[in-house]
Amino acid sequence: MRQVNLGMIGGGTVGGGVYEAIRRNGALMASRLGVSLTIARVAVRDLKKARAVNIPAGLLTTDWQSVVADPEVNLVVELMGGTTTARQVVLAALKLGKPVVTANKALLSAHGEELFAAAQQHGTNLYYEASVAGGIPIIKVLREGLIGNRITRLFGIVNGTCNYILSRMKDEGADFDAVLADAQRLGYAETPPDLDIDGHDAAHKTGILASLAHGFWVNPKQIYTEGIRNITKQDIEFAAKLGYTIRLLGCVKTMSNGELRMGNGRPARGTKFAIRNSQFAIQVSVYPALVPNSHVLANVNGVFNAVYVRGDVVGDTLYYGRGAGQDATASAVLSDLADAALDLKCGTKNRIPPFIPHERDGAVLPMDDVVSRYYVRLTVEDRPGVFAKIADILAKAKIGISSIIQPEGHAGETVPVILMIHDAPNAAMKRALSAIAKLPVVKSAPVMIRVESFE
Ligand code: NAP
Ligand code: HSE
Repeated sequence: MRQVNLGMIGGGTVGGGVYEAIRRNGALMASRLGVSLTIARVAVRDLKKARAVNIPAGLLTTDWQSVVADPEVNLVVELMGGTTTARQVVLAALKLGKPVVTANKALLSAHGEELFAAAQQHGTNLYYEASVAGGIPIIKVLREGLIGNRITRLFGIVNGTCNYILSRMKDEGADFDAVLADAQRLGYAETPPDLDIDGHDAAHKTGILASLAHGFWVNPKQIYTEGIRNITKQDIEFAAKLGYTIRLLGCVKTMSNGELRMGNGRPARGTKFAIRNSQFAIQVSVYPALVPNSHVLANVNGVFNAVYVRGDVVGDTLYYGRGAGQDATASAVLSDLADAALDLKCGTKNRIPPFIPHERDGAVLPMDDVVSRYYVRLTVEDRPGVFAKIADILAKAKIGISSIIQPEGHAGETVPVILMIHDAPNAAMKRALSAIAKLPVVKSAPVMIRVESFE
């Protein structure tokens, strides 16, 4: 049986998981693949570090270059994280014509275009299943399973740490910082965890999915990104009373001409963006959103992720599983190892390229022009005339209120007011809220959370 020797760079949470999973299921994989996978060498930073998974000392080194260059190593697995040395590792391996498996979404987001081009140039491949949504094989789904579809909608809960925090805040009334510490202890969070809670990790993943689904490289700077740092228990409770659950969502939506331009070819009312003839436009964004409790994504809890994909042929599909942690991520790495090993065995170096450019140019719609519904929480003085002032600003901006909720208070007190707002462009909404914030009766910065309708 053919043997493929793996050179692993990184033996931490994910690396340890891959080592353990191959120890447990390596023979099973070999019987299924007709190729045996052997971990030949593992590069780490610190040889003396105590490891939860005991990797034999004889395999360990601190010299990643020697692992990549080792003629016995046929496949390099980058599991170190970061974007600087990791980029060097991946490029060095690809230049030697060695296929690379990576779980590193930050690296792909920052340098994906360069790395995919290098794989192509050197006649090898870059595999990245573990970079998005942990154990869910979503890359394979988009690259192969749905290859005959144009993707019109993709909504993802793609950050396990944020979903874990939001779920425990809702279910137990737990405190943000305490839950984050648990997520770190369980090996879910990035280093530093700001990457998770400020939405950047979800943006890296959403950008990868958008690029793969739409065939043009989405620049991460064009992805509107909001994290969950400002989500309070109060908003979680109000949302629940209104029949919603707050989730951090990655959204990729194809905009039809009608959504962007009116019959006369001009941009739709309140928006500025116009697409050229050769172009199509997509919304690519990450933000906390109110998800109706009746929608399946509202019921994705804890560290679980889910990706909801609508294709023009298949219709709606849903993929669900653990989004972070040692074993879920190891499972995705094993899937890539199997693909890479089969490609080596069959000599099909580029059976399906890592990233497939499409025939047309795509453009990312500026967030200012994205239209959505909103939940707004204001803290106002409870006295006559307050609503009239707020409603007047919204009416002048042509923004409609669908409902107003004010818990019973006492005259003169400061009370919360919740406004549910009809569809409006983001720029118009931002301007209106900034005017509302300046009213003397408004006592703190307005809170605005988008409401997703999944249409
Ligand atoms: P981790 O536990 O911090 O492991 C990183 C590993 O890389 C450690 O073994 C470290 O060595 C090694 N390393 C760092 N710098 C090195 C260098 N210069 N030379 C050699 N080895 C070096 O991180 P992780 O959680 O496993 O994450 C690894 C990657 O997987 C990241 O890109 C992450 O975003 C991605 N990922 C993680 C998860 C998850 O749930 N954790 C899920 C999906 C994707 P020491 O052990 O000696 O410190
Ligand atoms: N920190 C990431 C998360 C790891 O919480 O989703 C999985 O990519």
